[in-house]
Amino acid sequence: MALVFRSTSDTASQWRAALEKHLPGLDMRVWPDIGNVSEIETAVVWRSPPGFLASFPNLRMIASLGAGVDHLFVDPTLPRHVPIVRLIDPYMTEAMSEYVLTQVLRLHRQDLAYHAQQREQVWRERTQPNASERRVGVLGLGELGSDAARKLVVMGFQVAGWSRREKRLPGIESFHGPAGLAAIARLSEILVCLLPLTRETESVLNATLFTAMPKGAAIVNAARGRHLVDDDLIKALDSGQLSAAVLDVFREEPLPGEHPFWRHPRIVITPHVAAATNAQTAAVAIVENLRRLAAGRPLVNVVDPDRQY
Ligand code: NAP
Ligand code: GLV
Repeated sequence: MALVFRSTSDTASQWRAALEKHLPGLDMRVWPDIGNVSEIETAVVWRSPPGFLASFPNLRMIASLGAGVDHLFVDPTLPRHVPIVRLIDPYMTEAMSEYVLTQVLRLHRQDLAYHAQQREQVWRERTQPNASERRVGVLGLGELGSDAARKLVVMGFQVAGWSRREKRLPGIESFHGPAGLAAIARLSEILVCLLPLTRETESVLNATLFTAMPKGAAIVNAARGRHLVDDDLIKALDSGQLSAAVLDVFREEPLPGEHPFWRHPRIVITPHVAAATNAQTAAVAIVENLRRLAAGRPLVNVVDPDRQY
């Protein structure tokens, strides 16, 4: 079974080492040196261009190099009969929770405001609520969102979460479905987005949502740039409806130099680093599915193409 590897980052040699550690002798072909396309049975990809995956007539599995699979569904020629598996790596989950905790704590402890005060040499204590008085909402209670929400509970925050289907998670007030979105918005002083990007979740962070949130609330978007309506965020920040936004993901990446987010005083930018894929740890998940495929056993972490996640 030959495997084709294609990524936007220069990580092929790390991936070869990581995969061959578990599967010595693996026939891994790195694009563009892929040989006979009919020999390719698995594709391990990140943001391959439209038409790439359809060019393999004997493809039996597509593995995403990331947790998100929206990069695959933008391809109108995506072969619908081929199962897609996504990345679930406990180390990625830990990394995302670290990011969420870091940013929620910064917002909770008014870090941006103190930085602004420092620039002006202002020595002024601000009223500081306890974590138990702070309400944090998490959009998406999947692999990443549920772990982050659980750790926020451990930190003492009042935590609520939103999912598509109803959920019961200890210590987390759970909302679901379209009606649940307005309810979680109303109570979230800090709202974290960890949703997959699908036709249903695109532009979910918009003016209607911001207006429903408590005045002075903040958002953290570590999911996808297309969850956020950029102009709506700027307006909500400039009117004072929102006090701050932490953004790790953007509609266009890298974020163009002229984008107003770069210079906005109440926006914190990180360059899509909340939970990067680590070849060493992520290879374990991909190898598990390669072994399952070879043995004719059911794959794990399979994406539902109708739900798009
Ligand atoms: P996941 O396990 O598939 O969880 C998705 C969650 O979103 C589930 O709780 C799901 O609800 C909920 N959801 C989906 N559609 C919904 C809808 N229409 N309404 C309400 N809830 C909905 O995904 P994950 O592994 O946690 O990853 C989430 C996303 O994080 C990825 O898709 C990716 O875009 C992003 N990500 C970003 C980085 C980064 O570095 N910035 C790194 C990794 C991942 P149910 O539980 O009811 O199904
Ligand atoms: C990163 O954004 C991922 O989806 O893993």
